[in-house]
Amino acid sequence: MGLPRFAMASNSTGAPNASSPFELARDESFWREIATYYDRTEGILNLEHGYWGKMARPVQSAYLDAMRMVNAQNSFYARKDFDGDEAVATRRIANALGAHEDEIVITRNATEACHNLIRQYRGLGKGDAVLLADIDYPGFKTHMHWLAEGRGVRVVEIKLPVRATQPEIRDLYFQAFEENPNLKLMLVTHVSNQHGLVVPVAKITAEARRRGIDVICDAAQSWGLLDFTVSDLGVDWAAFNLHKWIGAPVGTGALYIRRGTLEKIAPYPGEQDPDNTIVARRVHPGTYNFAARLAIPAALDFHEQLGSAAKEARLRYLRSLWTDAALRMPHIEVLGGKDEASWTGIGSFRLAGKRTIEDATALQLRIEKDFGIFSVVRKGLASGGCVRITPQVFNRADELGRLVDALKGLAK
Ligand SMILES: Cc1ncc(COP(=O)(O)O)c(C=O)c1O
Repeated sequence: MGLPRFAMASNSTGAPNASSPFELARDESFWREIATYYDRTEGILNLEHGYWGKMARPVQSAYLDAMRMVNAQNSFYARKDFDGDEAVATRRIANALGAHEDEIVITRNATEACHNLIRQYRGLGKGDAVLLADIDYPGFKTHMHWLAEGRGVRVVEIKLPVRATQPEIRDLYFQAFEENPNLKLMLVTHVSNQHGLVVPVAKITAEARRRGIDVICDAAQSWGLLDFTVSDLGVDWAAFNLHKWIGAPVGTGALYIRRGTLEKIAPYPGEQDPDNTIVARRVHPGTYNFAARLAIPAALDFHEQLGSAAKEARLRYLRSLWTDAALRMPHIEVLGGKDEASWTGIGSFRLAGKRTIEDATALQLRIEKDFGIFSVVRKGLASGGCVRITPQVFNRADELGRLVDALKGLAK
């Protein structure tokens, strides 16, 4: 399968022909065509696409071709030509993120990128504190706690409201800065894995920088879900995934370290970088899936053909189809954004007053068994458990209608 047919309908900027992403987001026939590029999940309506992104067929083909080639050529390819091909993939990632090539290293996932940033951070000393929030990714919160314990520093954890606006989120971070003058490092999540809440990273980072607080940004869930570049985030260090919303094979992520800031992130244990110029020295993955990395350019081709703005608008629209209805249902509590800037395509909910993990687990099962809709329980929020709903670009508006009917059915 070659380049997607919808490329033919694109204008010279590469964006599909429609007067705006907002209008295109509501054009079911366009998205029906996009859906033809994806294999359908059988036996259930799958609304849990926050785990990883399904590859579009052109990406799948590139991946399978690469796998066959790597398997046939084996070490003769890997030892002689892979580095050059990987450099092409790295360049493509850098271009797509608006970064320099020497600021990016490909990782196996965002976890590898973020864990290395946390573990190899050099800046902490006695009396310092680190900051995180309840909406951060559970595996990164535990890593921050581990770091703090090892270095004898205090952990400050802020709790965000069940729903919040951009100014409310920003003010809670600023208040934490004000109340904890010894903060030295913080984790900030661009889009929460719990309910898709968008955190105003650039504003928070600018203030953190003014106060001498270093920032590690978790952009694992946001790249491809939202339309942005690294300069929009304004951070020095970030972790990305390519296997979520970019649609590359599972096993692909990226670490970003801005030029001139390598000194504070030590090389991977045992690696050398005396002049602090080589970002790749911050990672040591061992042998990994060569073919997955070789398919990255194909994934970025497909992603760019469709366009970040069009994807973001479609996903926001699909989310609004169920959250707008759910917000009018007294038996449902919706979690996530309170203003549109704080929302993404992802949202969460629970039954009003039912906040335990057991409640959320029973709710997820009921939606699956009684209504044939697959979703996932999220457990990290201070306010309790919830069920996350994550449509993908190939989901149809009427499928979100099925979810709305299920939510109504939960009143009984
Ligand atoms: C916000 C966030 N951070 C980090 C991760 C970890 O990503 P991965 O398991 O691909 O490393 C996820 C995965 O869902 C996530 O949503």
